[in-house]
Amino acid sequence: MQIIDGNKIAAEIKNEIAEAVTEIKNKGGKTPHLAAMLIGNDGASETYVGHKVKACEQVGFKSTLVRYDASITEKEVLDKVIEINNDPDIDGLIVQLPLPKHISEQKVLETINFKKDVDGFHPVNVGRMVLGLPSFIPATPFGIIELFRRYNIPTEGKNCVILGRSNIVGTPMNLLMSRKAYPGNCTVTICHSKTKNIEEICRNADIIIVAMGIAEYLKADMVKDGAVVIDVGITRVKSDKTKSGWKLLGDVKFDEVAPKCSYITPVPGGVGPMTIVSLLKNTLSSARNEIY
Ligand code: GUN
Repeated sequence: MQIIDGNKIAAEIKNEIAEAVTEIKNKGGKTPHLAAMLIGNDGASETYVGHKVKACEQVGFKSTLVRYDASITEKEVLDKVIEINNDPDIDGLIVQLPLPKHISEQKVLETINFKKDVDGFHPVNVGRMVLGLPSFIPATPFGIIELFRRYNIPTEGKNCVILGRSNIVGTPMNLLMSRKAYPGNCTVTICHSKTKNIEEICRNADIIIVAMGIAEYLKADMVKDGAVVIDVGITRVKSDKTKSGWKLLGDVKFDEVAPKCSYITPVPGGVGPMTIVSLLKNTLSSARNEIY
């Protein structure tokens, strides 16, 4: 059994990105620049955006954080998105989700210029990904694909089961694992809240990607010997064993599942750090005009 070290791979990729940035600057090019919009005061969103801004600093990107109170109107948000779309210095824009209820996520995402949509959530990027055309790939699925690549994990002809069908993880993961490429060429089964016999479907899987947001959902008796398990879940639970009083749990009951696996990602330190570096990779691709 090998534990996939997302922290180590993410650090390697950050170094690669930092070298690329130095090269751009040495040649007199423009510093890659990511803008992030954070609306309201959702605790998890604050943490995620904080990590994204810090990661930009670490690789030498410029970053701009635009913060608004939850009471901002939809029109004001859309106007800011348009202003950033028109700012030639900014290569990538993300609007952290979820948004306050009175602001339409779809309207905001569709207003972002798809050429700056480094989250890969705009319908043009989603559509191009479906067609196998160059596009920005959402950060979490992109990070998972990179873990398969860097650990040389075979995927061709494998049964891949994805638990969860969100737009951010499950649905793009389905496309990527079934496409004609490496990693890919899997036979994919996507499971959700209405799926019958999830346990049995999981037991038949060579690769299980769990993105449900239910702490410790996947148990040892749902996993066959030698399976690859990728855990996308992060649930914060109270703990009297940590200094902060909190600990993070994945969607996999790690201690009992890990011994059965050929590869498994831990939480924290698995998929999480890869999500952030994938956003940086997309921003670098945008700055270099590699996709559009
Ligand atoms: N909320 C949860 N995950 C994400 C993400 O990858 N991007 C954005 N913008 N918001 C999120």
